[in-house]
Amino acid sequence: MKHSNGLAVIAIAALALSACNNASKNESTANAENTNAQDSVTACSSYLDKKYFEDTADGKPTDLYVLKNSNGACVAITNYGGRIVSIVVPDKNGKPTDVAVGFKTLREYQGPGDAYYGALVGRVGNRIAKGKFILDGKTYTIAVNNGPNSLHGGIKGFQAVVWDATQANDSTLSLSYVSKDGEEGFPGNLTVHVTYTLGGDNSIKINYAATTDKKTVVNLTNHTYFNLNGEGSGTILNHLVQINADKYTPVDATLIPTGKLDPVAGTPFDFTKPTAIGARIDTAANQQLKNGGGYDHNFVLNDAGPSLHQAAEVTGDQSGIVMDVFTTEPGMQFYIGNFMSGKSSFKSGANDNYRTAFCMETQHFPDAPNQKTFPSIVLEPGKAYNTTTVYKFGVKK
Ligand code: GLA
Repeated sequence: MKHSNGLAVIAIAALALSACNNASKNESTANAENTNAQDSVTACSSYLDKKYFEDTADGKPTDLYVLKNSNGACVAITNYGGRIVSIVVPDKNGKPTDVAVGFKTLREYQGPGDAYYGALVGRVGNRIAKGKFILDGKTYTIAVNNGPNSLHGGIKGFQAVVWDATQANDSTLSLSYVSKDGEEGFPGNLTVHVTYTLGGDNSIKINYAATTDKKTVVNLTNHTYFNLNGEGSGTILNHLVQINADKYTPVDATLIPTGKLDPVAGTPFDFTKPTAIGARIDTAANQQLKNGGGYDHNFVLNDAGPSLHQAAEVTGDQSGIVMDVFTTEPGMQFYIGNFMSGKSSFKSGANDNYRTAFCMETQHFPDAPNQKTFPSIVLEPGKAYNTTTVYKFGVKK
């Protein structure tokens, strides 16, 4: 008895010790992972600290994820709104340069200073006139949040929801979100998967996939604001832009397309050859520039899916950083930060000053649900929504 009791004591002690060892091993592995993750974040951008993103919103965990490659590029993404917070790539002298503007903390993305910075936008990106559209004879109403219209999926669009995130490796982040039937007024449960992939060639590929259980409308995009000279380096008006579009969709004073596809030739919208963004921005007589407060227009791309086509090329005048945009989408909203107010500060400490960043939102055309001649954004049950856009970074010396 005594003997067996002794054994039992030894056995229990051994079990306890091993449990304790395992616990401390798990803890130290977890700590090591945290430290590694934090090291990756700070190595990617000295402006960022993961702890300012580790929180919860709508009862779901939020975090900051980092993709990196061996070619000097890294991308920081939070699953709050699926937002690209930072894109660091080498400039013409090899200097790491953060070409995506963003905030330092989750709180700022949730605050009034946010303007869809870096965000995944949906269920319907861009504008729906008066927030109304008809599908199979039924009128649907989406919140009016931009003058008389609905912008970027209503009040709580995909930029403000928490996505489920899985990071399999250094190059891929998978995000998923189920938008409920009726959410923001749209019909159908929409299951969305977005995958960000950082390539070894300094390209960021964004694949958008969605399915629905009821006929609905879908137009997903990403709203990253770029400054190819680096966040905080001032105006983007001297960047050179080329857009592969012979036509664009002119708009009324509330930025709803008139329905026409107008030629860019002979107008300030002709970017078919590389031209400085600001070269013709003050063309006083151009009613379209007045309506947009500058460029805030959808370009009709000369080539569209199913395979990737080049939509645009932009060069940072100081950094020599070149961004090539490829997409399967038929349109691209070129927006040059006309509403940036200078009231908030970005992660570098620089303010969000007027026209210090631009967006190239690849998409179907604005107000597509109400414009019979535009490519349709209707998604039916049993059909797959699938689009891809690539932003690829290089340098011109
Ligand atoms: C889109 C719109 C712009 C503006 C920004 C966000 O790009 O076209 O008019 O609303 O989003 O500020």
